[in-house]
Amino acid sequence: MSLRRFPHAEIVSPDVLGEHLKFRNGRETNNRFLKSALTEIQSNYYPNEPKRHGLPTDTILNIYDKWGNGNFGMILTSNVLVDPTNLEAAGNAIIFKEGDCHERRALFTYWAKLMKQDGALAVIQLSHAGRQTPEFVNPTPWSASDVQLVSATRMTTYGKPKPLSIEQIKTEVVDRFVYAAKFAYECGFDGIEIHGANGYLLSQFTSPTTNKRTDKYGGSLENRQRIVIEVYDAIRAEIPASTGFLVGIKTNSVEFQSEGLTLEDAKIMCQVYEDKGVDFVELTGGTFEKLNWTWDRESTKKREAFFAEFAEQIRPVFNKTVVYLTGGFRTVSAMINAISCNATQGIGLGRPITAEPDLPKKILEGKAISAVQDSFNPNDIATTVMASGTQMDQMGRTNMEKAGGNIMHLITDFSDEHTVQRFSEALGLHVKQAALDISEGKIPKAIIAFN
Ligand SMILES: Cc1cc2nc3c(=O)[nH]c(=O)nc-3n(C[C@H](O)[C@H](O)[C@H](O)COP(=O)(O)O)c2cc1C
Repeated sequence: MSLRRFPHAEIVSPDVLGEHLKFRNGRETNNRFLKSALTEIQSNYYPNEPKRHGLPTDTILNIYDKWGNGNFGMILTSNVLVDPTNLEAAGNAIIFKEGDCHERRALFTYWAKLMKQDGALAVIQLSHAGRQTPEFVNPTPWSASDVQLVSATRMTTYGKPKPLSIEQIKTEVVDRFVYAAKFAYECGFDGIEIHGANGYLLSQFTSPTTNKRTDKYGGSLENRQRIVIEVYDAIRAEIPASTGFLVGIKTNSVEFQSEGLTLEDAKIMCQVYEDKGVDFVELTGGTFEKLNWTWDRESTKKREAFFAEFAEQIRPVFNKTVVYLTGGFRTVSAMINAISCNATQGIGLGRPITAEPDLPKKILEGKAISAVQDSFNPNDIATTVMASGTQMDQMGRTNMEKAGGNIMHLITDFSDEHTVQRFSEALGLHVKQAALDISEGKIPKAIIAFN
């Protein structure tokens, strides 16, 4: 199969991308590539049966059998939720004490093993959706304050959230993150990433748009960041750095809303992470209200990575904390440029690696100098996210053995214009059906099963 790739890549040596990244505890990655978190929405959804709720399925395991053979330095899971009622989607994997059972531990242990096949560090992204929980999952999720989400980026509405009390911040948030981190450690993961970005619960606290509190968790930046630090400290109290277990944080470099987190806020927060001993930070930006994963700003057109301009300004605060930047990378030359101008050390990839799960391997072997260029409007986030979900579904239909060792088995090539047109038609029907399902009180399908 001949895939169309981004054409504007200069021919440059990929050697820099093969360099190891060293964490402050002495652990190392095999290269600079990070498989960023991509929600598959393929786990069990049984809200009334805790032992089955949020269990990873064979589809998930097959997907990671592919990425585990893609030569990443670090692989993140999708967002794994820590509260069974505050999900990003019906179908997230969940780790929660009420659902603890041998089967869950066995599945997560196997998941970690698949991720590590070619030497990647296996890291779980732990998240709490807060007000970004779809209304059909929970009409009254938790948040910092009662600021309701109105968003056009997803096919759902969101309920009015309930502000967490000071006591509930401990019992419903901190304790749940600690339980899930310990579970990850015991199942053989190399670390966790605390999701503190993109409008999920912890960033509902750090952002002034959603945090209207007047107690010690609201107001000043120090107060708004307090919950993240409490989660981090409580995890480290249970799993000290001396264990070698990595603890990282995904954080926004900037939010593009009036009152949103500013670059100055992000710099100060990152300085705290550096001083605290956080092993790595993954920089990104935006929330469900305004993601800004688009190439329309002038600086992004030049730099490719959506947040490189901001990352470059934040980067000097880091000395021992390893920095990853995710969003927008499509060519080797832009990746190397971001490293050489010191915007980042590691390169996070999302959509390009559902089109091609072994893109890092191909790049490092000199077989590719850019990602597949699909024929979607590149700034149409909703459609490209759905297409990525479909490709993960296709990855999950076979494991490597059943795919005859062909990592690209069944994955649709969206560089083909006719295929994109067929997919767009399928998406139109999918959106209509989802609206109907929701109006009838049913759980809508999250994934378009295509081809
Ligand atoms: C299908 C899909 C699912 C995603 N799920 C998550 C997630 O679970 N957690 C997260 O932090 N980011 C998630 N993201 C954001 C990605 O990690 C990444 O930041 C974003 O796709 C931009 O990178 P890209 O331009 O390389 O795709 C998701 C993105 C896509 C396309």
